[in-house]
Amino acid sequence: EESYDEECDYLFKAVLIGDSAVGKSNLLSRFTRDEFRLDSKPTIGVDFAYRNVCVGGKTIKAQIWDTAGQERFRAITSSYYRGALGALLIYDITRRQTFQNIKKWLSELRGFSSPDTVVVLVGNKSDLGQSREVEEDEGKSLAELEGLYFLETSALQNQNVEEAFLSMIERIH
Ligand code: GTP
Ligand code: MG
Repeated sequence: EESYDEECDYLFKAVLIGDSAVGKSNLLSRFTRDEFRLDSKPTIGVDFAYRNVCVGGKTIKAQIWDTAGQERFRAITSSYYRGALGALLIYDITRRQTFQNIKKWLSELRGFSSPDTVVVLVGNKSDLGQSREVEEDEGKSLAELEGLYFLETSALQNQNVEEAFLSMIERIH
């Protein structure tokens, strides 16, 4: 652990936000440990994980914070966002309500974080196309309107998970 720190050139903090059960914790475990659980429990308080990423010859240690989507389990909001340079704003393509709540999450994020925080909008569970309630174009349009990057992912099938995290990390400078 210590020697890792000496080898890393930058330490970046990023946060995951979105409604409960959209897949924040599974996206994080897929990205940092290549693990996925169908029976994962709701997050209580705050969790975090690291992954070292090489960008432009520099080693970036990405420290990614994950919190509860459920209000009653959330930790103090301001400390969660403090110092975050990147954010993945996540909804579930099979639950329209989680997409409608993106505006609420975005305003909370903008209220607590710096204006140059890199934000990527993520429509997760793309493997469940037959239960889709949010079209890919709707995600794309919202992202364009709000000036965000956009991707659909599947933590289950490991589709676009690397791309989502890396598109955020690579744009943090
Ligand atoms: P909170 O901690 O309560 O905020 O939820 P969360 O956003 O961390 O969701 P979590 O990662 O715990 O996932 C919720 C459920 O969705 C679990 O049953 C996961 O297995 C499932 N899930 C997560 N990602 C995917 C995905 O890409 N596809 C499918 N089919 N299921 C997924
Ligand atoms: Mg969670």
